[in-house]
Amino acid sequence: MKRLLAISGLLVFFAGGALAADGKALVGKFKCADCHKMQGPAVKTIADVMKRKAPDLFYAGSKFNRDWLVKYIQNPTKLRPGGVVYLNHIKLDGDQDTVGKVLKCASKLSAGDAEAVADYLMTLKDPDMKTGVFKPGKVKKARAKMVMLKKEACNACHMFPKKGGGVSCPTFEGIGSRLNPDWMYSFIKNPRKWDPKIWMAVRDFDDATLQLMVNYLSSLK
Ligand code: HEC
Ligand code: HEC
Repeated sequence: MKRLLAISGLLVFFAGGALAADGKALVGKFKCADCHKMQGPAVKTIADVMKRKAPDLFYAGSKFNRDWLVKYIQNPTKLRPGGVVYLNHIKLDGDQDTVGKVLKCASKLSAGDAEAVADYLMTLKDPDMKTGVFKPGKVKKARAKMVMLKKEACNACHMFPKKGGGVSCPTFEGIGSRLNPDWMYSFIKNPRKWDPKIWMAVRDFDDATLQLMVNYLSSLK
């Protein structure tokens, strides 16, 4: 019995390995790198950020939840209402800003290909990111909203479910399904570590505030 388990474990291991290798080939075949940066490091000048067509994927394995990836790359939706770099899409209409046409993700993989590509993307991890940092606890919704809406005005840039918000960056709707909480913690704490010239707010949050916010964001499924 033990031996059988060991053998089937090995099979699963090989199947997983083969899938990730297939996934890498599929990323090449479907030309994901025409729009996405698949290899680090991140760009280091504002001019290069302005030229960005699509989000960086070279640390996808640290950033995303695998289940979300599998669904998204079969049927992508709009996550950034103002496009990847909103300054490239904003039109001034009288004194009202409107968003012009934004580029959508071109990925339209079959379910099988999506599993393989997700396996491959999940291997793209940043070895420096600490894991097990996020402590799941009771979601203190009212307090989190106090901090994020009243005190820090995260909604100047991000959309909150039902509340609305800015269009210049990813929506918080469904963010808990999308993102790995340890990555959220790291990104909110130090966005420039991931993307040196990104216009995400840099604040000096203590651990308790980061846990409060990431617990709330993780609950937005
Ligand atoms: C024509 C350009 C283009 C191509 C080709 C493309 N994408 Fe995208 N992708 C985008 C854009 C633009 C977005 C951002 C969409 C948004 O935020 O609304 C995106 C978003 C994504 C995201 C979410 C990233 C994040 O940080 O939110 C993933 C994952 C993704 N694409 C995977 C893929 C994969 C896998 C392929 C190849 C099979 C691919 N894309 C091909 C343009 C492209
Ligand atoms: C000045 C605008 C701005 C403000 C204010 C802002 N952010 Fe951001 N945020 C950004 C940008 C830009 C990104 C990354 C854009 C991208 O991935 O395309 C980002 C990304 C994020 C992400 C990752 C989202 C994702 O889906 O990839 C989280 C989490 C986040 N911000 C949390 C916060 C929190 C919490 C606050 C308030 C304390 C906040 N942000 C305030 C601009 C802002």
